[in-house]
Amino acid sequence: MLIEVAAVGVCGSDVHYFTDGRIGDFVVEAPLVLGHEASGVVRALGPGTTGRLAVGQRVAMEPGVPCRRCRACRSGAYNLCPDVRFFATPPVDGAFARYVVHDEDFCYPLPDHLSDDAGALLEPLSVGVWAARKARIEVGSQVIVTGAGPIGLLAAAVARVAGAAEVVVSDAQPSRLALAKKMGATEVVDASRGAGSRGAGSGGAGSGGAGQSTAREVLDIFAGREADVLLECSGAPQALEAGLRGLRGGARAVVVGMSPESHVRLPLSLVQTREIELTGTFRYANTYPAALALAASGAVRLDDIVSAHFGLDEVAEALQASRRDPLVVKPVVLPGR
Ligand SMILES: NC(=O)c1ccc[n+]([C@@H]2O[C@H](COP(=O)([O-])OP(=O)(O)OC[C@H]3O[C@@H](n4cnc5c(N)ncnc54)[C@H](O)[C@@H]3O)[C@@H](O)[C@H]2O)c1
Ligand SMILES: [Zn+2]
Ligand SMILES: [Zn+2]
Repeated sequence: MLIEVAAVGVCGSDVHYFTDGRIGDFVVEAPLVLGHEASGVVRALGPGTTGRLAVGQRVAMEPGVPCRRCRACRSGAYNLCPDVRFFATPPVDGAFARYVVHDEDFCYPLPDHLSDDAGALLEPLSVGVWAARKARIEVGSQVIVTGAGPIGLLAAAVARVAGAAEVVVSDAQPSRLALAKKMGATEVVDASRGAGSRGAGSGGAGSGGAGQSTAREVLDIFAGREADVLLECSGAPQALEAGLRGLRGGARAVVVGMSPESHVRLPLSLVQTREIELTGTFRYANTYPAALALAASGAVRLDDIVSAHFGLDEVAEALQASRRDPLVVKPVVLPGR
C-alpha cells in the first residue's frame, strides 16, 4: 500500500545511525532514510492487497516485514527472521518521508480517537510488550526497570498494566524520573547516587561527601529488594549489574537495552547462585494488536511521552533534540507539517 506518512517517532537507533553511521554489524554504506516508528494514511492500494484496508484508512505501520518462509517465521518468532526488511535498517529506507510503500499485513487500522503520534509509538510500546511477555510478569510481580528513556518508560507502563504490584524505575538522569511516575512507576531511584544517599536527606552511611557515591554504592541501589523481574532498558552495563543485584532467587532478567559494546562484564556467579533466567530481546513479534489495544483503551498513554514536534526539513534537529535536552524524551517528526 502507498501510505502518506503522518507521524514518525525519533528513536535512539536513528540517532546512532545519524551520528555514528552504524549500530554493531549494521553499517550505513549508502544514503539511508531514517525513521521506523510510523503512522499514516492509506493513499493507494497496490498489487497483492486484499482491500481489507481502504484508501483513507489511518494506520500504524509495524516496521519489519519478515520473509514468512524461514524457520523463524514459520515458528512465529518472525522478529528473528534473517531476511526481515525493517524500516531504517541498512539498506532499507525508513519513514522520514512524505510517502512510504508498506505491506498491508503489517499495517494496523487506527481508531479515530488515537492520535497520529500514538499510532507511531505503538512501535516502542511493542518493545515494552515483548519485554513484559519474555519476563512473564504476573499479578503482584515486583519489577525493576533500569533506564527511563522511552523504552524504559513504556516497559514500566506495560509492567504496571500487566499486574505488577511494584515497578521501580531508575535513571542516571534524575530529570527523567518525574515522567516515570506519570507512566506508572510506583517508585523511582536516582541511579547516579548510591543507595546510602537515596532520598533528599543528608549523606547516608556511604562515602560521606555530599552527592558523591562510590561505584559500589551505585551498583547496590536495588540491593535487598528481592524483585521478581528486571527489565534492563538503559544499555548501561552498570544498570544491568545493579538490577541483577536486586533480584530474588529464581527471578527473570530481560536485557532490552543495547550496550554500545558487544561484550559486557556480567556477575555470572550471581546469575548462577540465584538461578536467574537471563534473556535478551530483539524487537518483538505479534505484539502490535496488544500494543494497539493498550493504547486504544487508555491503559498506556503514549501521547504523554511526546515532547516536541518537527517538520521533515527539521529531521536533523529532531535527531539531536534528546541529546541537547534530556527532558526531550520522544521527539516526533510530522512529514506533512
Ligand atoms: N531490544 C530491542 O529490540 C530494543 C528496541 C529498542 C531500543 N532498544 C534499546 O533500549 C535502550 C533504551 O532505549 P531508549 O530509546 O529508551 O534510549 P534512551 O537513551 O532514551 O534511554 C536510556 C536511559 O538510560 C539511562 N541510563 C544510563 N545509564 C544508566 C544507569 N546506570 N542506570 C539507569 N539508567 C541509566 C539514560 O539516562 C537514559 O535516560 C537502548 O539501548 C536501545 O538501543 C532495544
Ligand atoms: Zn525504535
Ligand atoms: Zn523469515
